[in-house]
Amino acid sequence: MTTEEKLSLVHGRFPLLMSPRPPGVQVSAGWFPGAPRLGIPPMIESDASLGVANARRGPKDDATALPSGLALASSFDPDAAFASGAMIGKEARQKGFNVLLAGGANLVRDPRNGRNFEYLGEDPLLTGVMAGASIRGIQSNRIVSTTKHLALNAQETGRQVLDAQIDPAALRESDLLAFQIAVEQGRPGAIMCSYNRLNGVYACENPDLLSVPKRDWGWKGWIMSDWGAVHSVAAANAGLDQESGQELDRRVFFDAPLKVELASGAVAPARLDDMVRRVLWGMFSTGAMDHPVQPGDLNTAADGLVAQHAAEAGIVLLKNFGGVLPLVGGGSLSLAVIGGHADVGVLSGGGSSQVEPIGSTRFSAPKGAPSWGGGQVYHPSAPLAALRARGGRVTFDPGTDPAAAAAAARSGDVAVVFATQWTTEGQDVLLSLPDGQDALITAVAAANPRTIVVLETGGPVLMPWLDKVAAVVEAWYPGSRGGEAIARVLSGEVDAQGRLPVSFPRSAAELPRPVLDGFADAKPEGLSGPSTAPFKVRYTEGADVGYRWYARTNARPLFGFGEGLSYTRFRYAGLRARGGLKPAVELTVTNTGGRSGMATPQIYVRAPGTTPRLVGWARAELQPGETRRVQVSVDLRLLARYDTTAHAWRRPAGRYLVAAGASVGDTPLQTVLTLPADERRDR
Ligand code: BGC
Repeated sequence: MTTEEKLSLVHGRFPLLMSPRPPGVQVSAGWFPGAPRLGIPPMIESDASLGVANARRGPKDDATALPSGLALASSFDPDAAFASGAMIGKEARQKGFNVLLAGGANLVRDPRNGRNFEYLGEDPLLTGVMAGASIRGIQSNRIVSTTKHLALNAQETGRQVLDAQIDPAALRESDLLAFQIAVEQGRPGAIMCSYNRLNGVYACENPDLLSVPKRDWGWKGWIMSDWGAVHSVAAANAGLDQESGQELDRRVFFDAPLKVELASGAVAPARLDDMVRRVLWGMFSTGAMDHPVQPGDLNTAADGLVAQHAAEAGIVLLKNFGGVLPLVGGGSLSLAVIGGHADVGVLSGGGSSQVEPIGSTRFSAPKGAPSWGGGQVYHPSAPLAALRARGGRVTFDPGTDPAAAAAAARSGDVAVVFATQWTTEGQDVLLSLPDGQDALITAVAAANPRTIVVLETGGPVLMPWLDKVAAVVEAWYPGSRGGEAIARVLSGEVDAQGRLPVSFPRSAAELPRPVLDGFADAKPEGLSGPSTAPFKVRYTEGADVGYRWYARTNARPLFGFGEGLSYTRFRYAGLRARGGLKPAVELTVTNTGGRSGMATPQIYVRAPGTTPRLVGWARAELQPGETRRVQVSVDLRLLARYDTTAHAWRRPAGRYLVAAGASVGDTPLQTVLTLPADERRDR
């Protein structure tokens, strides 16, 4: 390869800002010309956290929207993640893309992060397994998926300037462990580094960070920058392999300036070869090199069913007083449906991951939203229509006036209030539902004791009205067929199967950072550039993220990790733990209720002197009276401390407490696992 050909693979364009844009180059997140002389195809990148983001290229530009990451994670179902990835990878290929900016695997460290809806919760194992499965699904189409954003881009406020401070060992045991599992199980062609600084140095030029996947995990792919996250040519020596969306950087670094540094010897030619080899490894290992994409027609009807299945599996029933759900009675039941634009569709999250299927409705974004956000998009599947299709008298009130909504609620046997919280990339949120919806729910609940609240939120929200309502259903952002999925769960056509992948706080006061750093001073984000002055965020909770933080502080959240009701009941028994160097835990789960349902038994282990950790789970669909024995093997890294000097996982000998049951806060079974000391390097 000539130097020019090599360079062409390590700096990419942002087609929206290319001028002129070469003929045939579509507006998308990124584009590289490839090297025709060598048969290297162009790299055409699309965002795809939750489906192929459309980039709004015309009225006929369709795509299927998956439910949000938190919804997918709530399914605890890697098969659903694989199927979802396979579906969006197929659509990507049909739309002419061969590199997907997908695989979001940041841990939810703060429920107010505006981008939580793209991620998979607060637990490293759950996140790693689900991200890995989804990446595998995408790449089964012989295209590249990333995993992103490495690392600790845990809030949107000031993401381009903030300095995330954390103990390096704790980082390995939490966020980086999630990425490590995702990389092992998904084998992504690329990793995207994040905007923020990490322990003082920008992530995309941080050698301590960028060496981890390459040196410690033996991963051979390429590290691409986030868009506008490169600050110097020196990033190449720190381990960054590719500059993305160069139009968004202060200047283009990995073209002429890199050439100058190559000539001066500041960057060794062997380093450029390594960068290029890594890009090509990603392209070859996934099949993207040998199987160029050929655009074709989508089949969104079939693809929608994949999204619907994932949405159904991820809807979480949080409260069900007196068995008000499922709605039985069919034609004889009258429903007062209220609020949340339930007549129009289901809400989605904003930013680069935005998918806009044909038939979506856009409402303007609230004042102060990022300038490039593009409004609040409701996906076309309206819950109102789906509920009406199931018979009975179904009225609708928009919920804009609490008194009118209360009157509507009084006229129904049951009131179903849809409450929404729009979140977007580039901005964080408060924990309360916006636009007076708490007052709306309170007024409706006062008018009808059989009030069901259906939440369409980006993440956890406070529920000051919880005691007053009969049922709460967390439907997240449920995607292209979300209305149908909600109706099927409410009517009991499928069990309520979701379990929370994230803790819901009672108030911000109990979080590691009661006040979100930088939030008060933040200005709406522009297309590039910092929205606020630099500041530090101290992640003093270390690896005690989410439910582990609650355990450390001896507090109980409003709803805990793993929680979620089924329409039937389960009994857990017969917990057994086998120690040694290949530990395993098993237990029996029985459906003791009157209908079939999905059990998700979970196993937590507490190493001496630490907080509990999810080490495994199972999903078991059981008929009434049916019993199943389930077994999980324990990844020893989940119980170890990481030694950053020796680059090794170390687990002391000792008695490890095993707890199993329906959620981290409901573990009727306990036993002890006796383990010998163990030490192992990553590879
Ligand atoms: C986001 C990335 C995204 C990229 C390209 C950035 O603003 O952080 O997740 O892939 O834009 O659209």
